[in-house]
Amino acid sequence: MVTVNIDGKDIQVPKGMNIIEAAKLAGKEIPHYCYHEKLSIAGNCRMCLIEMGMVQKDRETGKVITDDEGKPQVRWMPKPAIGCGTNASDGMHIKTNSETAKNCQNGVMEFLLINHPLDCPICDQAGECRLQEFATDYGRGYSRFVEKKVVKPKRTVLGPRVTLDDERCILCSRCIRFCKEIVDDDVLGFVDRGSYSTLTCYPGKKLENNYSLNTVDICPVGALTSTDFRFKMRVWFLKRTKSICTESSVGVNTTVFSREGQIYRITPRQNDEVNDTWMSDSGRALYKEVEAENRLRRFQCKGSSISSSEALIRFKEIVATGETAYVGSSHMSVEEQYLLKKLTELHKGPVYWLQHIEEGDGLLISSDRTPNMRGALLTGLIDNLPGDDLKALGQKIDAGDIKNLVVYHEDVLKAGLTEEQIKKVNVLYLGTHVNETSKRALIEIPTLTAFEKSGSFINQQFRLQKFSQAIPGPAGILPDINVLTRIITLLMGSDDTVTSLDLIWQRMKEEIKEFSEVSFRGMPETGVLLDKSRFEHIKFPEGKTLHYEPKNR
Ligand code: SF4
Ligand code: FES
Repeated sequence: MVTVNIDGKDIQVPKGMNIIEAAKLAGKEIPHYCYHEKLSIAGNCRMCLIEMGMVQKDRETGKVITDDEGKPQVRWMPKPAIGCGTNASDGMHIKTNSETAKNCQNGVMEFLLINHPLDCPICDQAGECRLQEFATDYGRGYSRFVEKKVVKPKRTVLGPRVTLDDERCILCSRCIRFCKEIVDDDVLGFVDRGSYSTLTCYPGKKLENNYSLNTVDICPVGALTSTDFRFKMRVWFLKRTKSICTESSVGVNTTVFSREGQIYRITPRQNDEVNDTWMSDSGRALYKEVEAENRLRRFQCKGSSISSSEALIRFKEIVATGETAYVGSSHMSVEEQYLLKKLTELHKGPVYWLQHIEEGDGLLISSDRTPNMRGALLTGLIDNLPGDDLKALGQKIDAGDIKNLVVYHEDVLKAGLTEEQIKKVNVLYLGTHVNETSKRALIEIPTLTAFEKSGSFINQQFRLQKFSQAIPGPAGILPDINVLTRIITLLMGSDDTVTSLDLIWQRMKEEIKEFSEVSFRGMPETGVLLDKSRFEHIKFPEGKTLHYEPKNR
């Protein structure tokens, strides 16, 4: 640690930390555009100019030279320095709001706004635009520019998901550095000089990698926009809900933006231990499953609609006849898995599980394409890695050992069961969407997507992370924990209802040793790393995923 004096206050910061971050520790904001804590330093916007000086030392003795009052004498640099490119060292003095610093901020803002179009009323970035915010906080408040603004291309399609308005670009190069440094897809660059500098794709290339929408998130102005979200909704009308991406076992932290029961966009939420500040484009598109045409919306028996109570009673009656097998899912939350475990204990039957393995991208999509396989291990539904087919279950059906099959989310036909085998059993299906299994089910129970309920998942690091309900589910659909609890209650013939997450967690705390210190309410935003020693013998399929280690922060 070194001592740095920021605006008259001494503060201890790690040696080498850049001054923007050091000032944050001192509770000071240094305005900046091109600096991003997860990218290399470019130092090209000049918005972070500060005054910098060093304590003077006697060259011979090395002692600090003091003034008449005994205070150390500071030699101020004749010109301002950029905060993002200045690293903290012992005895450094910084002024972030001196006359000179303020003049610099004024000047840079005026310069940046010279050619910037005045289209804030129709710009998608309004409400989260750094240019607007800093113009108010650090700008001069009026323009002296009387010449004609430079006209640049508008509505340039950079790729399938990103549209560029070149006139709004302030040439900070964040998007260029992101593509080069994080995704290793060097497709963006500047062409032409001076006022005519323009962002573009290299000839013959497109911004089409699966992380392209992160450039929209980090663009400090409205130059890069999401083609999907463009002109759909003002951001200040949107409700923000903390969630977890279900695309893979990475467990990317997200924010879901919704209004009046409709999701408009998903953006990454910073968790340095999991996803830094990034997420995939494919993960952002998952909200479309909510309104998908094949959404299961009705309780059904033999293809005809019935009430939820009738469906649950029929379900209970069938399970109670015995010889039931269960196919669970790693898409279920920890709480749902715990209740499924209780159900399988109450009406004993073998539990089958499927893994969904595809190639990981080495960034934020791991090879396990489910969010919660670890949950099934911890709740005791499985004790090792599941296979990728259900042939063993098929043999049991053929042998006449199984008469009823409870299936959660999975498509058992895709997993190796045959039509003949399916015909031999009563299929009781619970899931969010129609699939080949649900079409052959005796009872169909619609369930909620992760956007429509709250709960928790355990990611590939054994990090327990919670997600919250962003929108209500379709009318009449019960939360999964209510469905499972009601079936358990019906089977037990008692009224032992545990339909709240807090109550489920109280029970899980007592029964599962890894959860003994956890409560749902008290779970921190960055999640809780659980003890994984019980599962050290398992060779999990995931490889390395993205984790940014800053070199020059
Ligand atoms: S498009 Fe946005 S992120 Fe890219 S250089 Fe321009 S202002 Fe920066
Ligand atoms: S933040 Fe752009 S020069 Fe420092």
